[in-house]
Amino acid sequence: MVTTLDISIEKTTKSRVGEYDVNDVPFGKCFSDHMFVAEYADGKWQQAYIKPYQDIPMSYAMSALHYGQAIFEGMKAYKNEKGEVSLFRPDANFRRLNKSAIRMAMPEVPEDIFMNGIFELLRLDSAWVPSSETGSLYIRPFLIATDEAIGVKASETYKFIIITCPAGKYYTEPIKVLVETNYIRAVKGGIGFVKAAGNYGRSLYPTKLAQQKGYQQVIWTDSETHQYVEESGTMNLMFVIGDTVVTPGLSDTILSGITRDSVLTLARDWGLRVEERKISIFEIIEAHEKGILKEAFGCGTAATIAQIVGIGYNGKDYPLPSVESRKFSPKVDETLRNIRKGREKDQHQWMVKVP
Ligand code: PLP
Ligand code: COI
Repeated sequence: MVTTLDISIEKTTKSRVGEYDVNDVPFGKCFSDHMFVAEYADGKWQQAYIKPYQDIPMSYAMSALHYGQAIFEGMKAYKNEKGEVSLFRPDANFRRLNKSAIRMAMPEVPEDIFMNGIFELLRLDSAWVPSSETGSLYIRPFLIATDEAIGVKASETYKFIIITCPAGKYYTEPIKVLVETNYIRAVKGGIGFVKAAGNYGRSLYPTKLAQQKGYQQVIWTDSETHQYVEESGTMNLMFVIGDTVVTPGLSDTILSGITRDSVLTLARDWGLRVEERKISIFEIIEAHEKGILKEAFGCGTAATIAQIVGIGYNGKDYPLPSVESRKFSPKVDETLRNIRKGREKDQHQWMVKVP
C-alpha cells in the first residue's frame, strides 16, 4: 500500500528540552516537543501533520474509549557517538502495527506515513534523544478509533499518532516474578499476539496482586492448563537450560517480540542451540532442582533485557543463579547496546539512520 501525504509542520515556538536532563528522566513521563498525527476518514488517509505536543480534542463518545479499538507500538531511537540518530528495526514495528490493525478491524497505516512521520519527528526533536549509554528515545506510534458513536461497530474514522519520550531503564533492578495460575493474559483465538490496548488493561489487576506479594511482575501461563509459561509482563521470556537457549514458541497467545527475535538471532549467530517450544513450569522447576537452569530473563523494547532472579510458583520461591554468574544474557545486552550505539558491526542491518 503506497500513500504519500504531505506532512504540514507547525514547529513549537519554545522548546521544552532545556527543562529536562534527557539522560536522566523517569520512563514515559516527559514528552518531546512535537507529535505526529495522520487522520483517516471516508475510507482513506486524509492528512498528516506535526504540531507541538498537545492534548487530543475528543468526544466523550469516542469509540476507542468504550470498545477498545486502540493499538500501539513501542520502539526506540538511539544516538551514536557522532550524534547521529538511528532507529532499531522500525520495519518490524511497522509490520506488527498493521498485523494488530487487521485483527482489530482498523485500517492499515501506509509505510510511508509510518516511516516519514517518525523521520520528520526525529529530525525536529533530535535534541531529545539521550546520548547516555543506556538512554534512548522511546517512540510510541498508536492508532485509535475516533468515531463519535455509542453503537458497537468498527469505527469509520481513526487517528494515527506518534509521540516520543526520552527513556532510561524501565527496570532499575533485576526482578522477581510470580507464575500466575488464575488470571490469564491471552486465549487461543484472542488478541494476545497483537499489541492491543485491552491486553494491557486486563494485566494490571493480577500484576497488582503479585506486587503486593513482593514480586515485580507475573509470568503468564496458558489459559487451558496454566502449566505452560508464555510471557512475563510486557516481555518475552527466555531461559538458558544447560547450554540451550529456550523460549516459548510463538502462538496466537504470545506477542512476537522484536527483541525476542533479535536475541534468538544473536544466539544462533554465536552457534548456540536455540529451542522455541512449549515450556512447562515443571520443566523449569526440575531444571532449577538439577542446577541446570542457568539464566532467566525477560526481553522487550522498554525493558531491553530484564534479569529474573527469582521465580515464585505455588507458594514457593525459586531463587536463580546470580546475575554475575550469567554469560549469555549480559553478552546479548552488551552486543545489542553496541549495535545500537554504532560500535559493533550491524550484520543484520537492524539500524536505520534518520535521513
Ligand atoms: N510481550 C508483550 C506483551 C509486550 O507488550 C512487549 C513489548 O512490546 C513484548 C512482549 C516485547 O516485544 P518487543 O521486543 O517487540 O518490544
Ligand atoms: C514495550 O516494550 O515497548 C512495551 O510496549 C512495554 C510497555 C511500555 C507497554
